Amino acid sequence: YALTPSFHHSLCMCHVFVCFLSGKGRYGEVWRGQWQGESVAVKIFSSRDEKSWFRETEIYNTVLLRHENILGFIASDMTSRSSSTQLWLITHFHEMGSLYDYLQLHMLDASACLRMALSIASGLAHLHVEIFGTQGKPAIAHRDLKSKNILVNKNGQCCIADLGLAVMHFQDTNELDVGNNPKVGTKRYMAPEVLDDSIQTDCFESYKRVDIWAFGLVLWEISRRTVSNGIVEDYKTPFHDVVPSDPSFEDMKKVICIDQQRPNIPNRWFSDPTLTSIVKLMKECWYQNPSARLTALRIKKTLTKIDNSLDKIKADI
Ligand code: ADE
Repeated sequence: YALTPSFHHSLCMCHVFVCFLSGKGRYGEVWRGQWQGESVAVKIFSSRDEKSWFRETEIYNTVLLRHENILGFIASDMTSRSSSTQLWLITHFHEMGSLYDYLQLHMLDASACLRMALSIASGLAHLHVEIFGTQGKPAIAHRDLKSKNILVNKNGQCCIADLGLAVMHFQDTNELDVGNNPKVGTKRYMAPEVLDDSIQTDCFESYKRVDIWAFGLVLWEISRRTVSNGIVEDYKTPFHDVVPSDPSFEDMKKVICIDQQRPNIPNRWFSDPTLTSIVKLMKECWYQNPSARLTALRIKKTLTKIDNSLDKIKADI
């Protein structure tokens, strides 16, 4: 596989001006900086999450990952300070912030909803597919897909961020590279087979199916904020009504594996043709049996069709 041109060596970190704190969490901090007159995001990893920095750096440095729906990489840097190591990841900056932040404040119409859903599905399909040849890429599964790891663009499309847990698969040698990050995905978004430990960890397909489960939950989050007949729900995280904030593994396991609950679908969604089609899609992401779930490519194709029929309805009006 072609290596990314090594920005690492040509970029002088002393010329990155880090200015505004734009986010803080368990992962560390994200700052807005200036580099060569452009806004960049500087993610400073907390030392306990150094494995995620290593993994994300490894993936961006060995795989040519340029896609409008995947967060654009600029550089990765490790500097030694007197008593500690500082780990930075420099990427494109998205001023609208994460999808999670965006959905708290904004409502969508059907066309904006589809644009977001289709863009995330396109990013995920690109990650999941292996492309052969010199400009190729291995298949990649994300393993921590959620609205906080998706960024919103000014054009209303989204891009997928945070590859700190990702796994890679190379078909020619059938090599599965799972890295050595002890971290697990976000419990709230975990698929049933992760919660009951029935997941086949030696099979790459398993990881893609875990991403699809989480993608279905993101679709649900977006749909709640999509207005139909003048009605909309408030933003809520998936399973907000059945588990506490910061749920434990056991909390999630009871809801998802034992009770086999799924997010509630409000009746009003069925009065809108776009939301009705999206409901069908999300339900097909939530089968208990992982092999029954849709693939990212199938989701992308179906969303494209829904988008085309919405254009047709608009043209007929
Ligand atoms: N939060 C996390 N990553 C970000 C980015 N690249 N741009 C803006 N906000 C972010």
